[in-house]
Amino acid sequence: MKCGGGKVDKREVVSEFSEHSVMPDEFPTLEADHLVLREITPDDAGDWHAYLSDPRVYEYTSTPVMSVAEVSELIQWFADGFRKKKRIRWALAESENGRMIGDLGYNEFWPRDRRATVGYGLAPEYWGRGLMTEALGTVIGYGFAELRLNKIEATTNVQNERSAALLRRLGFQLEGTLREHRNRRGVVGDAWFFGLLVREWVSPARDQIRSERDG
Ligand SMILES: CC(C)(COP(=O)(O)OP(=O)(O)OC[C@H]1O[C@@H](n2cnc3c(N)ncnc32)[C@H](O)[C@@H]1OP(=O)(O)O)[C@@H](O)C(=O)NCCC(=O)NCCS
Repeated sequence: MKCGGGKVDKREVVSEFSEHSVMPDEFPTLEADHLVLREITPDDAGDWHAYLSDPRVYEYTSTPVMSVAEVSELIQWFADGFRKKKRIRWALAESENGRMIGDLGYNEFWPRDRRATVGYGLAPEYWGRGLMTEALGTVIGYGFAELRLNKIEATTNVQNERSAALLRRLGFQLEGTLREHRNRRGVVGDAWFFGLLVREWVSPARDQIRSERDG
């Protein structure tokens, strides 16, 4: 995405949105510098299962450890959810071989509020390279520009420092602590609630979106 665009009044950006947020009919494939964000297919079940079964990945999530067959069901659930315009989950794949190394997307979607929740996970051997920053930044850009969101939110376990750092890096603000919010393998723990408003979002992609909206 290229940079561009002058200074735009925040109120103008918001007033240009349609009244409600909208979901696409066709699954949107997105491209970032080193990554492709594409629909998760039945063939991804093995790769997804491999990192979902890693304790470093499931440690802070409330998702139960799944078999490959259950991951296949999850893929179908996301496909159905997209068709019903309820949620959208991308496979994060390396550009050169297309292999799924992570996943991310909008889990819940409130069109009237133009608001959605993001979730994400990355195979641990790919941590520490900025790949999820790149991928989530792309998904945020898509959410503000194409889904016409006003707010993107995320909750993360208070011990999940990597997840909190990722959100802060992308400009999310901590809005509060949700007490005893999530049951994580039998332990109910506190969660941080983060939010990012379209007018707070700082990135070259944001500038491009604003300039396109501005004509
Ligand atoms: C949350 C999660 C995706 C974060 O992964 P991550 O590797 O820390 O995040 P990124 O891919 O954006 O990489 C950031 C790291 O790369 C570094 N980096 C290198 N180049 C970078 C670049 N161009 N841009 C940003 N960061 C870069 C950063 O300094 C940071 O380094 P650090 O590990 O020393 O902090 C990962 O920990 C995960 O999958 N956890 C398990 C699942 C989970 O917790 N999901 C969220 C539930 S709410």
